[in-house]
Amino acid sequence: MLRLSARGLAALGLGASALAAPPIPTFRFIVINDIHCRDERCHPWFRKIVASIRRHHPAFCLINGDLCENGLPGQLSAVRDIFGSLGIPLYATLGNHDYLDTGHAPFDKIFPNSINYHFEHAGWQFIGLDSTDGRRVVFTTIQPATLAWLDTTLPTLDRTRPTVVCTHFPLGDAILCRPFNAGDLLSRFDRFNLRATFSGHWHGYAERHFEHATVTNSRCGSWWRLNNDNSPQKGYFLCETTPTAEITRTFCVVS
Ligand SMILES: [Fe+2]
Repeated sequence: MLRLSARGLAALGLGASALAAPPIPTFRFIVINDIHCRDERCHPWFRKIVASIRRHHPAFCLINGDLCENGLPGQLSAVRDIFGSLGIPLYATLGNHDYLDTGHAPFDKIFPNSINYHFEHAGWQFIGLDSTDGRRVVFTTIQPATLAWLDTTLPTLDRTRPTVVCTHFPLGDAILCRPFNAGDLLSRFDRFNLRATFSGHWHGYAERHFEHATVTNSRCGSWWRLNNDNSPQKGYFLCETTPTAEITRTFCVVS
């Protein structure tokens, strides 16, 4: 085994900190939202998206709400099966279109443990949250259950680790369809090492900031639904972490 003294490290231009702080491993992940699976006409489009995503070799893929149009089992299982063919972990958040009249039982069954949850990857913390208010589209409120889950869960997480939050509804200031109490959700991450949030629902690109986090809203990933920012681009965000715990993101257009 090669052992170097402090003098030896200095001779190589390396301080003790070079050993004390191993580089943070970087990785890629995908965030896509509002793919609105309606019927089998969506399937070739999804396969095209999957083929595009596969080229980037991401660690996992997160579908950020409105996976389907009507909350139906067949719509949701098609999304699970086609995106599941990536062979990487698939995460989802609940969107207002993922509801039936009677609730979201099919979503719960086909994407289990996807209401409020967290997971870790390479030292990062990812948090997926239910930001819906039933099927309501505008003038909504994030439900008390989500805020209570945060109040219980956040003390168990590490404030210093880089953290990412995903919600279907917009979190950024003055973005259309932002829930009345989106600020109450964000304020719970005060003094957390929150690096990024991702949202959709409005079907448009917007960038805001909350403390050290970039608060991103994205265009939709549906071939048949329109973007509300009047942009024609449909696709997904390819995200890549950096050794300094930043996230670079590139919107990849699928056509
Ligand atoms: Fe949507």
